Amino acid sequence: MCGIIGIIGTREAAPVLVDGLKRLEYRGYDSAGIATLVNSHIEGCRAPGKLANLEAKLLVDPVPGTVGIGHTRWATHGEPTEANAHPHMTEKVAVVHNGIIENFRELRDELIAAGRNFQSDTDTEVVPQLITHLMRQGRTAREAVAEALPRLRGAFALGILVAGDDQIMIGARRGSPLAVGWGDGEMFLASDALALAPYTQRVSYLEDDDWVEVTRDGATVFDGEGNEVERPVIVTQLSGAAIGKGNYRHFMAKEIHEQPEVVGQTLHAYYDALNDRAEFPGLDIDLFEVPKITLVACGTASLAALTAKYWLEGLARVPVEVDVASEFRYRQAPMPKGGMALFVSQSGETADTLAALRYAREQNQYIVTLTNTPTSTMARESDHVLLTRAGPEIGVAATKTFTCQLVVLATLAVAAAEARGTIDRGEAAKKLAALGDLPSAMSEVLKGESAIEEVARSLNEARDVLYLGRGPSYPIALEGALKLKEISYIHAEGYASGEMKHGPIALIDEHVPVIVIAPSDELFDKSVSNLEEVAARKGRIILITDEAGAEAAGGSAEHVITVPQVDPLASPLVTCLPVQLLSYHAAVLRGTDVDQPRNLAKSVTVE
Ligand code: AGP
Repeated sequence: MCGIIGIIGTREAAPVLVDGLKRLEYRGYDSAGIATLVNSHIEGCRAPGKLANLEAKLLVDPVPGTVGIGHTRWATHGEPTEANAHPHMTEKVAVVHNGIIENFRELRDELIAAGRNFQSDTDTEVVPQLITHLMRQGRTAREAVAEALPRLRGAFALGILVAGDDQIMIGARRGSPLAVGWGDGEMFLASDALALAPYTQRVSYLEDDDWVEVTRDGATVFDGEGNEVERPVIVTQLSGAAIGKGNYRHFMAKEIHEQPEVVGQTLHAYYDALNDRAEFPGLDIDLFEVPKITLVACGTASLAALTAKYWLEGLARVPVEVDVASEFRYRQAPMPKGGMALFVSQSGETADTLAALRYAREQNQYIVTLTNTPTSTMARESDHVLLTRAGPEIGVAATKTFTCQLVVLATLAVAAAEARGTIDRGEAAKKLAALGDLPSAMSEVLKGESAIEEVARSLNEARDVLYLGRGPSYPIALEGALKLKEISYIHAEGYASGEMKHGPIALIDEHVPVIVIAPSDELFDKSVSNLEEVAARKGRIILITDEAGAEAAGGSAEHVITVPQVDPLASPLVTCLPVQLLSYHAAVLRGTDVDQPRNLAKSVTVE
């Protein structure tokens, strides 16, 4: 969503703020800005567009001061103009905000009636205006903040500066993450610890309705009732080294190529290769007894969940329900006593998924979160956390976090199947060994990147692209379409192959590329029939299959992308690589901003 950062210390604030915003830019990049206190009055600098625009402005017109706040924006209310960029400032208060103030209209009307002049179209501006209004009525800054916060409805993480007092910086949190960074003679605020890694690895996370007074020497946290509370300081493992692209042109390319390594690392957190056993220490639910597993997520994470449905039902015979969080959170789904609810979210902060988690908590489910962010809100609100070890994923398009989610879910399916006796020890060991072979199989696919890049050229001029898959390849078809849409802006749809004849087949002609994901599994022959239906209508087929599949059906395809033959359980982790590379190279050919596609953000922490 948006990224916020603040520093109160002795060094110049602006360079630290800009460096921190670079690490937060993946959360949104419609505009950026900073504000500092200079001789106790507020100075600001804001720019529409990427952070580079703000940097250029600061070169010409630097902003001094050792206390400052910064913001990089994903627009919710108000176009991404300079006037709508954060920080929002009055004559007394500067504020940066991540989230949405849902009752901003009534507050805005009330404050305008009280004589306040608004400069922007944003929801955020009501915060500095309300605090200023209360201070003008005689409250101190602390009193004004303490009185203003309960009046706000919606989600917020706030950084606040008050003119006339360069000894404090104030933070507040409800629904959007906010970390306090503990330095030596300097203190920080940030949306996530990644932004602070070069300066401190000691952070504490505010809880909902907390607010904090930060001085150069420390922080005092207050809960929603105004009581002073302690929040533990933890040491993160995040490195201070700037996360670079290495010798790749984009973070997405780097992260696609990291997959064999990080999938292997993630797998071995749950797979005891010595004894060929799956291990889930601390998962305190009986996989034999569990009556149902409900899987909820958004976007690519929801497609990892949908893939897991095939494995958990097919292998372990566990009843599974999958839904996207934005639907699940409102449909009052009945949930069985003793059920497990598993939330998939690389950021662990997606608002819809977090809300769905809280609904399942009310339904007394055993809550598990599968995430790449151990310190996230969802992780903190779960009974058990399954961690992926993908490392920070900077590209907005999820790639390595997706395959790491898949490998954990596949391992869980094997563990559940063995616990329920639907597979014996030997079959479980065989399945796990197949997952253990994934790093080499995935590396094999990535070696064929240049051929896949050539195939991507055939998508470049397409108006519509169809992706088809059956069984566990169906979610991969959906993921392929999502990837192509979100980074190349080419319209694409993913469909269950068997569904094509119920409508989408009308789309097919010689202008429509149809990407068929069909490893030589038990559904292969059915997929070949669908492929022939496409060929009969001159559809331009791109077949993603293995050697056996290519031999059997390659003749009708314009292009065949061959992947290594693997166990059906491992197959989605192998066939998803060509769809990632196709979308990446199509986007590069179209010149879109691959790592920061338009209108998107890495973590959507608002509804
Ligand atoms: C995937 O490429 C997108 N960036 C998006 O769909 C993402 O998967 C979704 O927003 C969920 O994010 P999360 O995993 O952090 O919850």
